[in-house]
Amino acid sequence: MTVARTEEQTVACTVEGRIAWVKFNRPEKRNAMSPALNRQMMRALDELEFRDDVGVLVLTGEGTAWTAGMDLNEYFRETEARGLAGTRQAQRESYGWWRRLRWYQKPTIAMINGWCFGGGYGPLFACDLAFAADEARFGLSEINWGILPGGGASKVAAELLSFRRAMYHAMLGENIDGRTAAEWGLVNESMPADRLRARVTEVAESLLKKNPVALKATKDAIRRVREMTYDNAEDFLVRAQEAANSFDGEGRKEGLRQFLDEKTYKPGLGAYDR
Ligand code: ACO
Repeated sequence: MTVARTEEQTVACTVEGRIAWVKFNRPEKRNAMSPALNRQMMRALDELEFRDDVGVLVLTGEGTAWTAGMDLNEYFRETEARGLAGTRQAQRESYGWWRRLRWYQKPTIAMINGWCFGGGYGPLFACDLAFAADEARFGLSEINWGILPGGGASKVAAELLSFRRAMYHAMLGENIDGRTAAEWGLVNESMPADRLRARVTEVAESLLKKNPVALKATKDAIRRVREMTYDNAEDFLVRAQEAANSFDGEGRKEGLRQFLDEKTYKPGLGAYDR
């Protein structure tokens, strides 16, 4: 289907109650990631990252897809026709916003409403949390058209799945549904599509109540320590907490005060009142 869509219209954003809802917005192409969409997504992330009225970012898709992966025409065929420079530029533009998302200032949630293929595993892994509709379908379809799962997709499979599942998933190119994705650890939870937005909103609202400096330090810590020895992780985490204290030295003292002195909450059961 031909739809005249400007670069700006390939991504849709709304902010409600400190939650930024960012959508892949090429439903007529199953939200395939074209170079235009990749550029626009970076602009959207840029625009939202440090806004005071944004506390959590949710990445979802318009229509029946989350994203059908890279746009096989505009990302591969058309850029390859421009030679190596075209290919490298397209890679920088896509990998660039996924990397930005992996280390985003705000907590991020992937809300997988439908198809999620190949290159889509980059932003899927980049989001801190992921919730899927039971009806969503996930696949490393690269093998079905004759390439390996690149752009980080093999790394995502190896990081999130067991060795046998990663091999099977990548080598067979079969789809799994949301429930299987949850069972395998690709997403946190799966539920019927009509409950997805409410659940994601509930999780986002819970995150909004936490100390934002501690959240950023925590999400970075979990990503960083995966590749460290125990001793290096221990040392890194001491330094990371001390760095966080320099941004928000009072937050933790207030958390301790409300528990130890005021006895107004229990950290084991919820967050302190900020
Ligand atoms: N790249 C380019 N165009 C795409 C892509 C894609 N990844 N996915 C869908 N489209 C286009 C189709 O070509 C079609 O365009 P047209 O209307 O101009 O013919 C339109 O989107 C609708 O697609 P349909 O196939 O008609 O939609 P349907 O709902 O029947 O199927 C499905 C959806 C299963 C997602 C199918 O479109 C598909 O298999 N897409 C490719 C998925 C894929 O393998 N992606 C690449 C992964 S590998 C990587 O990312 C590196």
